[in-house]
Amino acid sequence: MTQRETILILDFGSQYTQLIARRVREAGVYSEIVPFNTPWADIANRHPKGLILSGGPQSVFAPDSPHPDPAVYEFDGPLLGICYGMQLLASRLGGRVAPADRREYGKAELTRTRSCCLFQNLPQKMQVWMSHGDHIDSAPEGFDVVARTANAIAAMEDSTRRRYGVQFHPEVVHTPLGKEILKNFLFNICGCSGDWNVRSFIDEAVARIRAQVGEEQALCALSGGVDSAVAALLVHQAIGDRLSCVFIDNGVLRKNEFEEVLQTFRESLHLKVVGVDASARFLERLAGVSDPENKRKIIGEEFIRVFEEEARKLGEVRFLVQGTLYPDVIESVSVKGPSAVIKSHHNVGGLPEKMHLSLIEPLRELFKDEVREVGRRLGLPETFVRRHPFPGPGLAVRIIGDVTPERLAVLKEADQIVVEEIRRAGLYDQVWQAFAILLPVRSVGVMGDDRTYENVIAVRAVNSLDGMTADWASLPYEVLATISSRIVNEVRGVNRVVYDISSKPPSTIEWE
Ligand code: XMP
Repeated sequence: MTQRETILILDFGSQYTQLIARRVREAGVYSEIVPFNTPWADIANRHPKGLILSGGPQSVFAPDSPHPDPAVYEFDGPLLGICYGMQLLASRLGGRVAPADRREYGKAELTRTRSCCLFQNLPQKMQVWMSHGDHIDSAPEGFDVVARTANAIAAMEDSTRRRYGVQFHPEVVHTPLGKEILKNFLFNICGCSGDWNVRSFIDEAVARIRAQVGEEQALCALSGGVDSAVAALLVHQAIGDRLSCVFIDNGVLRKNEFEEVLQTFRESLHLKVVGVDASARFLERLAGVSDPENKRKIIGEEFIRVFEEEARKLGEVRFLVQGTLYPDVIESVSVKGPSAVIKSHHNVGGLPEKMHLSLIEPLRELFKDEVREVGRRLGLPETFVRRHPFPGPGLAVRIIGDVTPERLAVLKEADQIVVEEIRRAGLYDQVWQAFAILLPVRSVGVMGDDRTYENVIAVRAVNSLDGMTADWASLPYEVLATISSRIVNEVRGVNRVVYDISSKPPSTIEWE
């Protein structure tokens, strides 16, 4: 296979690093994030067309500030430093960085002071987004200052050595022409051709999977979510019915989900799927368990057992397909770097080691929106592509306290109403997740002339970009009112509905 045109982004810990990678890919150039201290040999091995040094929370003056392998500065291709990345370039190459006496944060007006490839075909003045403490006092020898804001040198270039620095963040939406600036870097300066897209990704992935699997058999555990479905579809495209899928009803799926998802997989997508109703086993093991982490553990363990049993029935299988996404891959790399992220959710952890299977992770390079696009191209119905995330331990972590068949039945009904009404209001695609939680308290109510003493349902709807942070969604009162009255009227055993108005952090999206 030919070398894929790649831009590497060295991650110095900015909250925007992933955004840089996404913008580059949106422009049709494949990009990857690597830790700031990646050894030069590893970088050179990838033959990048250009390097981008990301921003970061540190000051170049801090004793423990992150620095790249010094050979990075000798790279014979183009280099773009953003914010902290620019300050690194300036301080390393002989310019002067001034420590912060105050932070500049927010919108600023940039004025171009000289012509520069980075700003080709862009106006003289433009809005940019600043977020920095230190600033550059004087550019290094060989560099020209090409743009300023009222407070700072906004951009500099050394066109001979193809070194560029911007103090602002071209990757964020508050720099409206930022995409154009990045495109100028990619196409005018790095000479990229921009031929990476979802179609070319699919072709490459299919060829790679064929080469990896040869004539062997592969197995995929479907969760009902988008990632495992798209991973299965890609592998199916490559090896057809030598892929077998297993979809397990663990008893804590949403109402009708098992049947509906199975039907989509089999009838619309023509995947070979074994559907296993193991709900009784799971619920038996969950009986009397109220600790959330225990629930997760039990569901995880039981899942592996059922899956192994099914796999044995399928005979000789060498490969296991998993829908791991790029953010999970970078997170685990960056734990050593400055942008350490705390996240411990995993789907089918432990399976490959236990079963001596080799992994196929065809989505390892993709962001979620790219996975959705691949799904669309492979025929995944739009309603499926846009499904809200649903946790592996399912409704078990939305029933606070013990999970019993009776409580499950109550939650399934309430949850269905929440989702139906959010859809009816045209809000489903706007919110990240919307669901019901069954609380372990009962409260007093009146119904007719009778006093009731029944369950409370909490409704949660959040906006989020990636699930790492989230704001509670300000749903219209009418929608909340309909949800509330339908739940109380239609779900037996519930006499009160409350709306969760907490954001993450400090709360989490799920209640357990
Ligand atoms: P939290 O509750 O941590 O959730 O704010 C963030 C995102 O992760 C989902 N989530 C899980 N997904 N297994 C999963 O596969 C889990 O144990 C799990 N717990 C939470 C949650 O729905 C949200 O999208």
